[in-house]
Amino acid sequence: MATSVRMGRRRGGQQFLRRQVGYGGGFLHRIRLRISSQRLFRTIIISLAFIALLPPFFFHFRLRRFHQVQQRKCGWLNDPPLVCAHGGDSTRASPNTMAAYDIALRSQVDCIEIDVSRSSDGVLLALHDRDLQRISGNSTSKVGYFSMKEIMNLSLTSGCRKLKVYSHGVVDKGSIGWLGWFTRSKYNVDIRLVKFNVFNYRLIKELDSAHQVIQKFHDESIPTIEDALKLISTSVRQVILDAKVGPPSYEKGLAKDILSVVERTQCRNCLVWAKSDILARDVIKLSPDIPVGYIVMKDPSTGARTNLLRMKDAGVVGVYHPLIDEKLVKILHGRNKKVYAWTVDDVASMEKLLFEHVDAVVTSNPTLLQRLMQDIRTECLKEGFSLSR
Ligand SMILES: *[C@@H]1O[C@H](CO)[C@@H](O)[C@H](O)[C@H]1NC(C)=O
Ligand SMILES: *[C@@H]1O[C@H](CO)[C@@H](O)[C@H](O)[C@H]1NC(C)=O
Repeated sequence: MATSVRMGRRRGGQQFLRRQVGYGGGFLHRIRLRISSQRLFRTIIISLAFIALLPPFFFHFRLRRFHQVQQRKCGWLNDPPLVCAHGGDSTRASPNTMAAYDIALRSQVDCIEIDVSRSSDGVLLALHDRDLQRISGNSTSKVGYFSMKEIMNLSLTSGCRKLKVYSHGVVDKGSIGWLGWFTRSKYNVDIRLVKFNVFNYRLIKELDSAHQVIQKFHDESIPTIEDALKLISTSVRQVILDAKVGPPSYEKGLAKDILSVVERTQCRNCLVWAKSDILARDVIKLSPDIPVGYIVMKDPSTGARTNLLRMKDAGVVGVYHPLIDEKLVKILHGRNKKVYAWTVDDVASMEKLLFEHVDAVVTSNPTLLQRLMQDIRTECLKEGFSLSR
């Protein structure tokens, strides 16, 4: 009995519980349904809003990214760097010759860099030790140990060697001896003989092809800085005089010699730079008006980059191009210094330097750079890049 009562109670309890559960379950169920349908509704609304907003956001960021990429690729078009021919156009003539300058001028470069070396008798020549070594065939020759006459003689000797090669078959080898100075006359050449077997000028003159050879020979002779500046300076926006300091006189009086040629030729767009800080400082001291640059490169002994900011009064920094990145350009521009990159002869590096917004690119192949700049320009304009001026 007691058990059945207990059981009955328990059963009643279970029923109660079940009722409770049944009642409560239905209620909760409905609440839950309502909640979940609300949640579903909310989820749908949010998803719809998200779907609606996604494309504008997506395109906003895509567009921003596109503009960033385009700005990087095309931004330089608003302020293109100077195209500087290193020793003239040295892809089609020997560097630092009138022929190389002439070709560079004809392809309308903005600027020409001339190597400046001083002979033992104090004449400034457009010549690099490397050029002299090529001419003399002696890999240890240095300009500073030769007088101007000796250098011209070496150049003539090398010219004669070439002339013999060029005229092979046209003129009998034996008829060409040592040639004297070439200067201007009605044929643009006036030949005086210094030492000769026999130089048969009449024969050469009669032969048109040989005359062209002489003309080429003449153009490939070594110019003085004065002659080079007279030819170049009024036809370009800037001339860089790259002063070579070497034995036996090094910097002694070199700044003064350079400035006096600049003054004599009235070069108003000459810039002087040098690997020697002593020389650059000498130029600044002697003539505060002429723009001066110093060189940033890898120190040959340590491999580390030379100090970036080390000459307050120099407005230009010539940087060895692999060292150039966004940060370097930002620092130098922040100090009001122009960044000139040297010497850049491959397309990939040229492109990178355009994107880094350098102020000038010195190259031995100016037409390659000009063509690249034109191609990027065309592409940018086609992609809708608008020039701000
Ligand atoms: C090359 O030049 C050096 C120094 O200028 C000289 O000592 C040497 O004799 C020259 N060599 C030749 C083969 O002329
Ligand atoms: C010019 O070079 C030739 C050949 O090397 C030499 O014999 C001659 O003495 C040189 N003349 C001068 C003025 O240096």
